[in-house]
Amino acid sequence: MVTRREFLDALAVGAAGLAVGNTAESYARIVGANDRLNFAVIGLNGRGYAHLSSLKANRSAARISHVCDADGNILKKFADAVQREMGEAPKAEKDFRAILELKDVDAITIATPDHWHAPMAIAGLQAGKHVYVEKPCSHNPAEGAMLVEAQQKYGKLAQMGNQQRSSPHSMEIVEKIHGGIIGRAYLAKAWYSNVRKSIGTGKEAPVPAQLDWDLWQGPAPRRAYRDNVHPYNWHWFRNYGTGETLNNGTHEVDVCRWALGVDYPKVGHPGNDRDGGCGSRWLRSLRSKRKQDERVQSRQHHFIRRPAGSRFYDGPALRELHRGNPEGREAERSGF
Ligand SMILES: NC(=O)c1ccc[n+]([C@@H]2O[C@H](COP(=O)([O-])OP(=O)(O)OC[C@H]3O[C@@H](n4cnc5c(N)ncnc54)[C@H](O)[C@@H]3O)[C@@H](O)[C@H]2O)c1
Repeated sequence: MVTRREFLDALAVGAAGLAVGNTAESYARIVGANDRLNFAVIGLNGRGYAHLSSLKANRSAARISHVCDADGNILKKFADAVQREMGEAPKAEKDFRAILELKDVDAITIATPDHWHAPMAIAGLQAGKHVYVEKPCSHNPAEGAMLVEAQQKYGKLAQMGNQQRSSPHSMEIVEKIHGGIIGRAYLAKAWYSNVRKSIGTGKEAPVPAQLDWDLWQGPAPRRAYRDNVHPYNWHWFRNYGTGETLNNGTHEVDVCRWALGVDYPKVGHPGNDRDGGCGSRWLRSLRSKRKQDERVQSRQHHFIRRPAGSRFYDGPALRELHRGNPEGREAERSGF
């Protein structure tokens, strides 16, 4: 008989439960349907609901035992949704550190603002939890490297959530590129464009009673609360977010790196530049060197014909492959 702990440690939890469906049946068979993985979902306003629906889809293998948000209103609303959707009330907690101390929590999922991703994920691994963290996995490259080291050191499963890796369409295209459909792909370009409403300039305001602003800021430099930052609009402030580049652009750049088979950038940015971790610098650091000095670049551009995508090039006689063109037909050259 495989014990629960042995099973958990060996389990390819995949997205810390978000892809646990493949294993749910075998898990239930081995340890019994009542012995499910306990998940704590942390950061509950927007993306947290995707975590809820994924865990709900896998509820024979997983339960949401704890929920956590620095905002009491958001916390209560999500706890109610869990009770409604999963049929069990989770314990609600504002401070994630209290959750990490609990031995019966097996895995945490993180959907907080970006500046919390790596520190919280590392703390989770250190506490012996499996970790699913939303993209981008870190606020700057140095933190990303620390997260990889922590995963190796503590031996728990860690996964970043950028869904293209699980998209049949992207998988098909990348497989074709690896199979040589456009020759030797040497360059990829990615873009994402969006028209968003203005968030205004905002103004300093009293911290709302339900929000623990100190906990929300966490590892970021201390700033007075402003009324146009939380929730969601923190994306556009570099102390917390990474701009559109690593918000949505990260999905497209990831497909480029995957298809080209390039690893972590060799020419990276020096580490301790939390304030410089924003999009453009990280993007510049994505320039990688390949054997014989061939340059492989992943870049993000505004590209007006489609709102988002990735293109791959095989030489001066341009052919391209992208999600709208899986057959890799001849492409017209554009300014892009
Ligand atoms: N993979 C995807 O396709 C996808 C889609 C949407 C969002 N995301 C990612 O999910 C993350 C969350 O995005 P969102 O739109 O839900 O943001 P949001 O601002 O709506 O929600 C974040 C929540 O985290 C909470 N929070 C902040 N600090 C916390 C702390 N220390 N402990 C607990 N909770 C804390 C906030 O109070 C807020 O409720 C982002 O990093 C984003 O990039 C990924």
